[in-house]
Amino acid sequence: MNILLIGSGGREHALAWLLKQSPRCGKLYCAPGNPGIADSAECVAIAIDDLDGIITFAKDKKIDLVIVGPEGPLVGGLADMLDRHGIAVFGPSSEAAQLEGSKAFMKDFVSRHKIPTAAYGRFTDADEAERFIRKTGAPIVVKADGLAAGKGVIIALSVEEAITATREMLSGVAFGAAGREVVIEEFLDGEELSYFVIADGRTFVPLTSAQDHKRVGDGDTGLNTGGMGAYSPAHLMTPEMEQKILDRMIRPTIDGMMRENNPFKGVLFAGIMVVKGEPILLEYNTRFGDPECQTILSRLDYDLVTLLDAAARGKLDTIRDQVKWKDAVALCVVMAAEGYPGTPRKDTVIRGIDLADTVEGVKVFHAGTARNEKGEIVAAGGRVLGVTAYAKDVATARANAYQAVDLLNWPEGFCRRDIAWRALSAPGLKKGL
Ligand code: AMP
Ligand code: GLY
Repeated sequence: MNILLIGSGGREHALAWLLKQSPRCGKLYCAPGNPGIADSAECVAIAIDDLDGIITFAKDKKIDLVIVGPEGPLVGGLADMLDRHGIAVFGPSSEAAQLEGSKAFMKDFVSRHKIPTAAYGRFTDADEAERFIRKTGAPIVVKADGLAAGKGVIIALSVEEAITATREMLSGVAFGAAGREVVIEEFLDGEELSYFVIADGRTFVPLTSAQDHKRVGDGDTGLNTGGMGAYSPAHLMTPEMEQKILDRMIRPTIDGMMRENNPFKGVLFAGIMVVKGEPILLEYNTRFGDPECQTILSRLDYDLVTLLDAAARGKLDTIRDQVKWKDAVALCVVMAAEGYPGTPRKDTVIRGIDLADTVEGVKVFHAGTARNEKGEIVAAGGRVLGVTAYAKDVATARANAYQAVDLLNWPEGFCRRDIAWRALSAPGLKKGL
């Protein structure tokens, strides 16, 4: 099969790396890709929002399957357009991607289907929002309705902070059009985990869990980021927890979307807060997480092309019982550029990636890299590398990942040193990790 992958991050590098290992993979292209992806795929200079360019290329190269990594083009209607041109695509329609693209849509949908979620209100009027905030009290969570590159959520510790954030969003100052409506919701105090399934509109296949590390600093301190590291499976994930998530969230969502004539096809990524042992849905994303994807795919014990192709063609029922996971742990440490999540320093030279790759079970995924005129790998984004280790348990995966990190020669890069700290410090929960 000729495959076109859309995106240029660590998630897409992990996808490309695994797709290329499949005996079913013919020619693999990636638009626009990055220097790491170029080892597995032919990178083509088409931007992810150039929908016409993507369609033209896919027809020209007789692409059998398009796999979309990031949310932007999905919300923008890329899957719908490919569908209209008869090209198989792994990823939801624009309307189904509203589960991620509009927090108001998502909250209304999950409430309609009685899926446990934080109590909320949705507002376009600042005075009404202010009354709601004053009535509810702090801490309280303010969310821009639309896509805001992971920055649209404010956990306000005081009523005044929540009101200011709300006014900045609604006026368009904070996030432009994405903030013209806000969701304001109850603050939930618990521990987070992420859970993933793949759906074809009707049938779904459970993938597995992961735990992300959103804050930039050790011990979960400092500013929010897109994710500074992850490991899979999450230590909170027991068979009982998984069953609750499937019964109370995933099945009602896939069935509900189908009943509402908005079938969901692609990766459904549930961001969950576990409060007193019960899962509560914080958010849905309609794609693989980054860096969660790097850890999940490292554990997949099934042909990725077959899985994504079956989902794209509505045939998951034919393979759903075959998908297996390796009974091991994968852990990804994100290396970011100095300045991230503010303004990251660009063009600094990164050496030692090949050396880091020699550590047992380690693969370094490129997330935000480019080549300079001398052909050297340089930083070209905030999150730059995902050093991913696969091992029998979490302690070994972590030790190996940091051994690889220490073999990199990139003085302008930094990482958190405590990825998976919750798993390693949880009493009695280390077993099986
Ligand atoms: P999101 O962009 O929706 O993933 O939210 C970003 C992060 O904000 C989540 O991963 C949580 O850590 C936090 N968050 C979102 N909603 C809530 C909530 N209702 N209570 C507590 N934390 C939340
Ligand atoms: N790592 C979180 C996300 O991909 O949204």
